[in-house]
Amino acid sequence: MGIDIEPTGAALGAFVSGLELGKLDADASDTLIEALGEHGVLFFRDQDVPPEAHIAFAESLGEIDVNAFFSPNEMYPQIAEVRTRPENTYVIGEAWHTDHSYEEAPALGSILVARQLPSRGGDTAFSSMYAAYDALSDGMKETLRGLRAVHSSYEAFGVGLSKMPEAERTERFKDEYPFGPDVVHPVVISHPVSGRPVLYVNRSFTTRFEGWTERESRPLLEYLFEHGSSVEFTYRFSWEPGSVAIWDNRCTWHKALNDYRGETRLMHRITLKGCPIAA
Ligand code: OGA
Ligand code: MN
Repeated sequence: MGIDIEPTGAALGAFVSGLELGKLDADASDTLIEALGEHGVLFFRDQDVPPEAHIAFAESLGEIDVNAFFSPNEMYPQIAEVRTRPENTYVIGEAWHTDHSYEEAPALGSILVARQLPSRGGDTAFSSMYAAYDALSDGMKETLRGLRAVHSSYEAFGVGLSKMPEAERTERFKDEYPFGPDVVHPVVISHPVSGRPVLYVNRSFTTRFEGWTERESRPLLEYLFEHGSSVEFTYRFSWEPGSVAIWDNRCTWHKALNDYRGETRLMHRITLKGCPIAA
């Protein structure tokens, strides 16, 4: 059966059929990486991907990048558990973000597999940073092209987690956080695969523009965070048992919806290493 890639019709995302991710042939990986660069996020239904197959599939796409902050899955350290328990009030990733933008070479993307879903809710929203960039005025595009921005893991995992109740924090995250030095990326990057311009700042990790104070940066960053989450640029994915999503971190944001209080949700995430990004 051939691979079929059906765009969602929204600003980003495509449904992929004709592939069993648990039995991947090597030829599929180039097609998927290219499709990711084009559509930003790929969705798969009715997949049978036990942890070993999840890891093998990830390795067929690239090198695995183990998240430094999450508590690892005990049997499979390559897999990050994205877990919400009934008593939790926060969910992981509930602000719009891209994974690992605080690294010198930000992650290419992540592969999220649904393991246990709430009876309703728990969708994931995605937003296209190609569309967000394209919709800006020529004047704003030119201004942003002259800027670089600072991305900080301390912002999310230091300042951010300090607001989370301690019991929720200690269960999900390591006791000691390996904060790296802040990194700087261009505000507008060229996507490494598609070559298209992308708006590359995000609410969780971008703290200021290089050479600007946080206070000076805040109004323009706030505008970009609001702009990037315009409904026009988004697609909302509803999980079912057997669903898998792969997103490209360089051209999308994502956000976990916190709307299933009192229920359990467990996802397995494997993150893929990326390359340094440039304007
Ligand atoms: C993540 C994440 C979203 C979700 O795993 O990086 O943000 O819906 N997850 O669980
Ligand atoms: Mn995330």
